[in-house]
Amino acid sequence: MAAVGAGRIAILISGRGSNMQALLEACERGALPARVCLVLSNRADAEGLAIARQGGVETACIAHGDYPDREAFDTALVLRLQQARPDLVILAGFMRILTPVFITPFAGRLLNIHPSLLPKYPGLNTHQRALDAGDSEAGSTVHFVTPELDGGPPVLQARAPILPDDTADALAERVITLEHEIYPLAALWFLQGRLTLNEQGAFLDGQKIPASGIPYRPQDAVRHDAADRGQQRIG
Ligand code: GRF
Repeated sequence: MAAVGAGRIAILISGRGSNMQALLEACERGALPARVCLVLSNRADAEGLAIARQGGVETACIAHGDYPDREAFDTALVLRLQQARPDLVILAGFMRILTPVFITPFAGRLLNIHPSLLPKYPGLNTHQRALDAGDSEAGSTVHFVTPELDGGPPVLQARAPILPDDTADALAERVITLEHEIYPLAALWFLQGRLTLNEQGAFLDGQKIPASGIPYRPQDAVRHDAADRGQQRIG
């Protein structure tokens, strides 16, 4: 396993920031050997910004409405992020469509989490769509970001059962709990140098990750010091 350094993570949010909080907590516990160097939002009233500030984390707001088009907004994001010198950029409920102006400078170190079993249900209202389709399972996927919306190579996928009489809200609650486990784990793999992206796709420990991502195993959760955990192998 690659030596673990204190990586720098920048997190982009638009709302409540519960995934951001899970990442911050994993850093505080020492389970994720990293420092959140910036939390950036496009909304000044994002609840997560206040939480980050209370935790002593540097924050910034770049309001998309202040820019004439997506490219100008993305340029401002890139400039602010580059000041923070992140090793890894994490989208955590950042509700803007990003252009190559943003994605290209961070290609290969840009992750997103999407609340569906990708490639199913890219876009919005994922839980309702899963219920409407009569699916028996829902879930969430961490994936590398490429210019295709919710279409970059999956890394890690957690599944949750859909229960009789489920509502989209109940399902969302079940899924978000899993998101708080899989995002720190994917960040850990990345900062350990185990998770990479190239033209062939996403790789963990040099092995190609399957098209639906690595199935999440709860025993791999980033709960303890990294040294206490076994390494996950693919397949
Ligand atoms: C999560 O459902 C995530 O999958 C999606 O946006 C939501 C963010 O929630 N990308 P939170 O702000 O982290 O609580």
